[in-house]
Amino acid sequence: MVLVSNKELLEKANQEGYAVGAFNMNNMEIMQAIVEGAVEEDAPVIVAATKGAIKYAGIDYIAKLVHTAASKVDIPMSLHLDHGPDFETVMKCIRAGFTSVMIDGSFLPFEENVALTKKVVEVAHTVGVPVEAELGRLVGVEDEISVTEREAFFTDPKEAQKFVEETNCDFLAVSIGNAHGIYKGEPKLDFDRLKEIDEVVHIPLVLHGASGIPDDDIRRATRLGINKINIDTELRLAFRDAVREVVCKSDVYDPRKILGPARDAMKEVVKTKIRLFGSSKKA
Ligand code: 13P
Repeated sequence: MVLVSNKELLEKANQEGYAVGAFNMNNMEIMQAIVEGAVEEDAPVIVAATKGAIKYAGIDYIAKLVHTAASKVDIPMSLHLDHGPDFETVMKCIRAGFTSVMIDGSFLPFEENVALTKKVVEVAHTVGVPVEAELGRLVGVEDEISVTEREAFFTDPKEAQKFVEETNCDFLAVSIGNAHGIYKGEPKLDFDRLKEIDEVVHIPLVLHGASGIPDDDIRRATRLGINKINIDTELRLAFRDAVREVVCKSDVYDPRKILGPARDAMKEVVKTKIRLFGSSKKA
């Protein structure tokens, strides 16, 4: 199948009430784990690459790997730019064959975030590429700040409504207590806030930083309008643990015997998340 865009994937998810997993890739084994996991679950899937992944692997390698994988399978999948930092990066990705992009202006003042997002949306839509934007900042778990300070970064429902109307973005990433990386304690998502956002914003919502969020909270978030869920850290941990297991317990030096088990371990994470998100058998 050719790659589709997040528009097709997330509108169906929105109508049917589940979330599509967006998994970050940096190399071939991670991508294979994502695609094979989705195929075994008969699920739609989003392969996500950040600017860092592009710098590491090369934009053409990423695009060709994912297009090749898609051509060999029968599930709908997309190639998505995660956390696009600026207009130029987004344009490069669209030219390279990414079928969906994110522009992350969440670090900017509201009006500047609106202006940047709007500019990206106007161009991306002319070539049929949907745009994810972010409002409210995700504070890293490593940032030493109080709960009140953290809440100041959360997405404001009224602002979210205005933001979506003014930018015409297709999907909105929200900040409701989620953070990238490994959570120090139990993450506490602000479900009332999510509900308020969902009531006034009528596009699919996105949850970043989903590694480490308890299963029940993920299910609840999905019921409250989250249709795309991003996972990176749990794949990295599975990779690290599997490589460590082989390298520390044997003299193996064949990369295939080191990376193969890591690929299998990441595939299990992908499958487990897909089932949790409710997107199994939704291909
Ligand atoms: P985690 O690393 O917390 O899984 O978050 C991934 C993410 O949100 C990528 O954008």
